[in-house]
Amino acid sequence: MQNYVVDSGKLKEYTTKLFLAAGLAQTDAQAVSELLVHADLRNVRSHGVLRTVPYLEKIQKGGASKTSAYPVVKETTNSAVIDAQGGLGALAGEKAVAIAREKAKTALMSMVVVRNSNHFGMGAHWALKLAGNDMIGFACSTTDLTMGPPGCKEPFMGNNPFAVAFKAGEKYPEFCVDMATSGVALGKCKDLAKRGKPIPSGWMLDKNGNDTTKVEDCYMMTPMAGHKGFGIALIVELFATLLSGGVLSPDINNQDLPDVPELSSQCFGCINISAFRDLAEFQETAENYIDRLHQIPMKEGAGDAKYPGEIEYTSKLINLKEGVVLPETLTEDLMAIGGELKVDGSFLREHKTERQ
Ligand SMILES: NC(=O)c1ccc[n+]([C@@H]2O[C@H](COP(=O)([O-])OP(=O)(O)OC[C@H]3O[C@@H](n4cnc5c(N)ncnc54)[C@H](O)[C@@H]3O)[C@@H](O)[C@H]2O)c1
Repeated sequence: MQNYVVDSGKLKEYTTKLFLAAGLAQTDAQAVSELLVHADLRNVRSHGVLRTVPYLEKIQKGGASKTSAYPVVKETTNSAVIDAQGGLGALAGEKAVAIAREKAKTALMSMVVVRNSNHFGMGAHWALKLAGNDMIGFACSTTDLTMGPPGCKEPFMGNNPFAVAFKAGEKYPEFCVDMATSGVALGKCKDLAKRGKPIPSGWMLDKNGNDTTKVEDCYMMTPMAGHKGFGIALIVELFATLLSGGVLSPDINNQDLPDVPELSSQCFGCINISAFRDLAEFQETAENYIDRLHQIPMKEGAGDAKYPGEIEYTSKLINLKEGVVLPETLTEDLMAIGGELKVDGSFLREHKTERQ
């Protein structure tokens, strides 16, 4: 399959124009594009511009509102509850991050929860924004029914993702644990299928609760580490849904439905490091810690040990310089929607690449 390479800035401009054409305000269109292109920069392609068409359909068919003017329905010095009223998760996230960071500057720790939201994309985007240079950022979200307790035949919750990030000194600016609570994210299976690649066994379950490697037979995902992943997904439900008063996971809508909001819930938090330690000392210790991790003996062929987020941060540095790789099918989809919205996407096919 032919791949194309595109400058990330141009890609962001293009998707921004698409979201503008769909009726979003300029800053909102930019925020959604930033989220999607950031995922492609970090090679988290399952949450990158692959989602442009579904997000646009959601806006066009009423499943996501065009506004970001969501009310804060409850607020204290260090907490807030936002009702996204069926808006885009990307825009609810922007608002929540701004509030959480602002509050944690003075209150030192903050938590902002969101209800009645839509897909919030790559968790790392939010955790990294929350973290900035001086805080620990935490973000998690419920998502549509894809997972359940070990042995189940029906899903009970989504593969609720969570992410934690901080800057570990100048050398390691993006320490970030970001994961779905399923073995892998469903989006990754869809992306592999789109790229014509096989999906390993042990990731997806069919209608009978049996293992499948065919994305079309996928009914549920397996929880990461069995009952442990299930338990962590419930913790996400606690922080995101139970605290926000949002819709319980068994009752939220399939995210692929274009005409109804998913009604997922989210939680965003900041811990201001200076509440505990001098920031420079903290970062020096963290940097030394990762230096030591990099030095541990590894099996032959395993390469150096990596810190969480290292693979994605390394990809980001490469992709910022060399461009983002898009498979042909994705360029087709993006150009087709561009045609519908009268935005020229021909630049997407200017540069072929052998990169994967
Ligand atoms: N919005 C939603 O509804 C939703 C739902 C599910 C997942 N997601 C997103 O999907 C994305 C992918 O999730 P995933 O679970 O497939 O992630 P993953 O399995 O690719 O990575 C999980 C974590 O492990 C780290 N990691 C990977 N290999 C490593 C290694 N060799 N050494 C050290 N650390 C390593 C990564 O840096 C990352 O922090 C995430 O961005 C997540 O937020 C979003």
